[in-house]
Amino acid sequence: MFIIFFCCVFFFLFCLLFMFLGDSLSCIECVNATGLSCTGSGVICPEGSVCGSHYTVTESGGSVSVTVSRKCLPENQCRSSGSYSFVNVKIKTATSCCNTNNCNPSLPQWSSRSSEPNGVTCPSCSSPGSVVCYSGETMQCTGNENICFMRSSTIAESQLPSSVRGCGTQNICNAEFKSTSPGLTNVLFFCRNKVSDQRMPKCSPLM
Ligand SMILES: *[C@@H]1O[C@H](CO)[C@@H](O)[C@H](O)[C@H]1NC(C)=O
Repeated sequence: MFIIFFCCVFFFLFCLLFMFLGDSLSCIECVNATGLSCTGSGVICPEGSVCGSHYTVTESGGSVSVTVSRKCLPENQCRSSGSYSFVNVKIKTATSCCNTNNCNPSLPQWSSRSSEPNGVTCPSCSSPGSVVCYSGETMQCTGNENICFMRSSTIAESQLPSSVRGCGTQNICNAEFKSTSPGLTNVLFFCRNKVSDQRMPKCSPLM
């Protein structure tokens, strides 16, 4: 009698466990700072997550570098793609997602980048080591990069601040936008909507 009772209790707990495990998605977590693919071990995601891959392509001078980071992502971060440019650097990012255990999201569809000037002019500068940047230089924005931004970040190795200004797509200003740049942490974007306003304060981080 007791044995049957314990078997039932055990079976019940077993079912309960499966119900909970069945609900949670597992995703690979990894970073590759020098390529578009990576593998790692699976982690159980918080509820409401999907498996996401976040890609960043950086063109600087003549060289192109790519990075990917894979992890559990809130679903609203799956369409976080955009691009921005400053001085002679062009960065584009895209995220793709899938939602089965340890699935590998497909490579994103990059929209081709127009080099046609769009009439917007933004301050353009890069100042590693400084919280703000101002060079007096401007750049002509192209394609759908029609917003002036400032990106502040921390250089991971030296813990020094770093700041750049240039042109970007509107969505880089969204809170969900993420850009994984190798070697940078605390990456934040500050934007201003009145894109052609030339009376931009020279040193304000909030442009
Ligand atoms: C990074 O990606 C490159 C090219 O896709 C690949 O050859 C390399 O093995 C990857 N490195 C890691 C750590 O996954």
